[in-house]
Amino acid sequence: MSNKKYIIGNWKNHPDSLAEAEGILDSISEYLDSRRNFIHSLVVCPPFVFLEEIDKIFQSSSLGKKAQLGAQDIALSDSGAWTGEVSGHMLKRLGVRYVIVGHSERRWKLGETDDVVNKKIKTALANEFAPIVCVGERERYESYKDFLKQQLADTFAGLSDNEKGKCLVAYEPVWAISSNPGAKADTPESALESIAIIKEALGNVPVLYGGSVNSSNVESFISQDQIAGVLVGGASVNKEEFVKILSLV
Ligand code: PGA
Repeated sequence: MSNKKYIIGNWKNHPDSLAEAEGILDSISEYLDSRRNFIHSLVVCPPFVFLEEIDKIFQSSSLGKKAQLGAQDIALSDSGAWTGEVSGHMLKRLGVRYVIVGHSERRWKLGETDDVVNKKIKTALANEFAPIVCVGERERYESYKDFLKQQLADTFAGLSDNEKGKCLVAYEPVWAISSNPGAKADTPESALESIAIIKEALGNVPVLYGGSVNSSNVESFISQDQIAGVLVGGASVNKEEFVKILSLV
């Protein structure tokens, strides 16, 4: 693959231990050390509790030159009292460069609204993170494109073109996310239709695809000019599978 793409691993609430997390990173590191021409932007988004240790690993090994650290969420505001939240200021001290915002599990399972996601994007930008903003319809019903347009309008409300240009957008149809019953990846063709809607709404922002990406389908998505990369969930904590994905891009 000659174009530079984003390969982003969203570990969600996995793995169970730091030792397992280190095992995943060792596999990635070993693979990248064996490959000279890895031109892509690799971002690993572990759970908050591992960020500090993983930042140390990045700083003290070759991995830090080849991959960057992302967080899976950010507190809506850097000031005030927010029990259970982790602020942008804290994340910044941990070497975090990217922040996932508006993941569908937060939107649909935890009730995060477009308005909350909008505020989180602004907080992420104020902290100079690159927000990875997740959007996508819950079901592929007839008017899903209208849903997507409204979600984009509300999620990015009040952001300037310059601010929108600092975001990565991940198109993740919720029904395609591997942990949902009966999930299967979207086709590149129909993902491209949604990506066209995203670019029409936001300008020429980088748009990634996410939802059941694995080693069998990653090439079909990443080979599309309009797809800037992939956001990989379940397959990113399976070290053999993730290394296989890396070997195909
Ligand atoms: P999945 O998850 O790759 O396991 O479908 C993607 C995501 O939720 O970001």
